[in-house]
Amino acid sequence: MTVGSSTLRAAFARRFDGPPDVVWRAPGRVNLIGEHTDYNDGFVLPWALPLGVSAALRRNDSGVLRMVSLQHGDEVVEAGVADLEPGSVPGWAGYPAGVVWRLRRAGLPVGDAGFDLVVDGDVPAGAGLSSSAALECVVVRAIDDVLGLGLTGPDAAAHARGAENEFVGVPSGVMDQMASLMCAEGCALFLDTRSMATRQVPLDLDPGAGGGLALLLVDTNAPHRLVDGEYADRQRACAAGARALGVPALRDVPLAGLDDALARLDDEVVRRRVRHVVTENARVLDVVGLLDAGRPGEIGPLLTASHASLRDDFEVTVPELDTAVAAALDAGGLGARMTGGGFGGSVVVLARTDAAGAVTDAIAAAFADRGYAPPRALPATPSAGAHPITDD
Ligand code: GLA
Repeated sequence: MTVGSSTLRAAFARRFDGPPDVVWRAPGRVNLIGEHTDYNDGFVLPWALPLGVSAALRRNDSGVLRMVSLQHGDEVVEAGVADLEPGSVPGWAGYPAGVVWRLRRAGLPVGDAGFDLVVDGDVPAGAGLSSSAALECVVVRAIDDVLGLGLTGPDAAAHARGAENEFVGVPSGVMDQMASLMCAEGCALFLDTRSMATRQVPLDLDPGAGGGLALLLVDTNAPHRLVDGEYADRQRACAAGARALGVPALRDVPLAGLDDALARLDDEVVRRRVRHVVTENARVLDVVGLLDAGRPGEIGPLLTASHASLRDDFEVTVPELDTAVAAALDAGGLGARMTGGGFGGSVVVLARTDAAGAVTDAIAAAFADRGYAPPRALPATPSAGAHPITDD
């Protein structure tokens, strides 16, 4: 459970003898649609969760990072700023340390300032909801604020992603960091990962009086399996597909040209990976079109088609994700899909508000039948991206 800002400030004062310079918060994200498209220069449509990471930070001018996570007890992790190198800080502290390393390496005036940091989060790790991006982004913004770097959203996202890819060594696209930094309350963020153009798309689902729609988020609690190696493998297959087709990225294969493109690919696995990315990009555009037209009730089949494509063509689902989606649809859900990288994690379901309880109950019952760990419904109100917090 996340503590409020005054409790975080008190925790900071206890460990570091004085107040922080700033307190920031950055959210985790859920992706409505556009999965495994971000490293193909494609489209994504995430929104920010009410769950996130808060950070209290102070410049200490000692050349040392002193880092505490309230989720990891009282231990202060220390690292010399000048000694940072990829892989040198294990565990959760590698993310904030990686941000400092990345900002310095980019030539920003971080110098050997050093920082004291206390973080506190409530995004469940391993749920596919970007707890690590929330941690990177809150630290980027807090340092940006303290040092007056004036980073734009896309610049801040690039540094946060760089910390993850280059310092911690986990491959990813840029969706999670852009979502955590740029989402607006009540909206999904339509992002073109090639141009980095963004647009806030209002998620107006509930007209009131019980006649509305709800987007439900359920963590399957399925353990992640082989996620890093499999993710990198998908990236390689997509790059191979683009190379074979002679395009800069799979984004450049239009839906109308998909059959021709597939006929030119010899490798059966690459062919299916390409088909997922090309059809998924088209589905994002269709969902955005329906939301813009005020017809959110019609996006359900696109969500379900996305799941089928991730299951059959991209092969990133696991039985728990498929079971949750099938149970949600059986119980009257209008559409459902896995969200995030896959191999475990969460599902998102579109349902009428009056069917929401039946949907979450049906997922829990299906899990109990199969002997899976119980799933967990999570709050998913579209929330604000990274922001400073001054009090509770
Ligand atoms: C993970 C990555 C993202 C994105 C998704 C799949 O969450 O961090 O960049 O590739 O998987 O859409």
